[in-house]
Amino acid sequence: MQNNNFDIYNLPMAGKNYMKTGLYPAEQKIVDKYFKHDGAHILDIGCGTGRTTAYFSRFDNKIIAIDYSESMIRMARERFPELNFMVADARRMPFENADFDIAFFSFNGIDYIYPKRERLEAIVEIWRVLKPGGLFVYSSHNRFRLPIGRTRLKSYMKNLARGTLFSEYSMDFCEYGPLLTYWGSIWSEKIDLKKSGFKFLDFFGNKYSSSISISLLESYTYYVFRK
Ligand SMILES: C[S@@+](CC[C@H](N)C(=O)[O-])C[C@H]1O[C@@H](n2cnc3c(N)ncnc32)[C@H](O)[C@@H]1O
Repeated sequence: MQNNNFDIYNLPMAGKNYMKTGLYPAEQKIVDKYFKHDGAHILDIGCGTGRTTAYFSRFDNKIIAIDYSESMIRMARERFPELNFMVADARRMPFENADFDIAFFSFNGIDYIYPKRERLEAIVEIWRVLKPGGLFVYSSHNRFRLPIGRTRLKSYMKNLARGTLFSEYSMDFCEYGPLLTYWGSIWSEKIDLKKSGFKFLDFFGNKYSSSISISLLESYTYYVFRK
């Protein structure tokens, strides 16, 4: 399958779509329940232009934020010059073993890693850099979602026509380019993360709370796993 995700995320146009500030509802629920803000060492992976990095830096945390897109990191540094951003790939991170208390891969960044073998390698790499007992928080797309909303309807119809609607990887037709995107489920995430040594703790939707409502009515789910 054609994978131009790296080039697309390096377009300045892509970064302009990630200029929000603050946390999404599911992220806020996780932070309220699991984060203590007690000097935790946080790794913000796929940080984009620094939305979550800026939020975490308000507390007594030590935070390093990485993204493989130089363009995203340039914009993040312009927005938040006082914060610690670096260009790095989640699949091979320049950190020691057991360096972080929390690894945060927000807003489905992990789903742009292709093929699945490399997505699994990134999960193992995240496990490596977390301390024992450390948390991995991330979100991932729901393969069995219903077509709700304009953008999702466009991608849904195109993938229906191509016969890739329920494929593990299919195209998400964003305004800044077609992203090759992984679509899983609460069940497949639990299996894949367990294989890498993680223990499942929780999942969250932005609007709903049961696994069925999240999987069918939200396009992605947030997860919390412990090393
Ligand atoms: C959907 S954007 C989310 C950006 C930001 N987390 C936010 O919520 O605004 C996904 C981000 O993940 C980054 N990304 C994708 N694959 C990556 C990888 N292998 N290593 C590091 N960053 C990656 C992209 O460059 C992009 O900035």
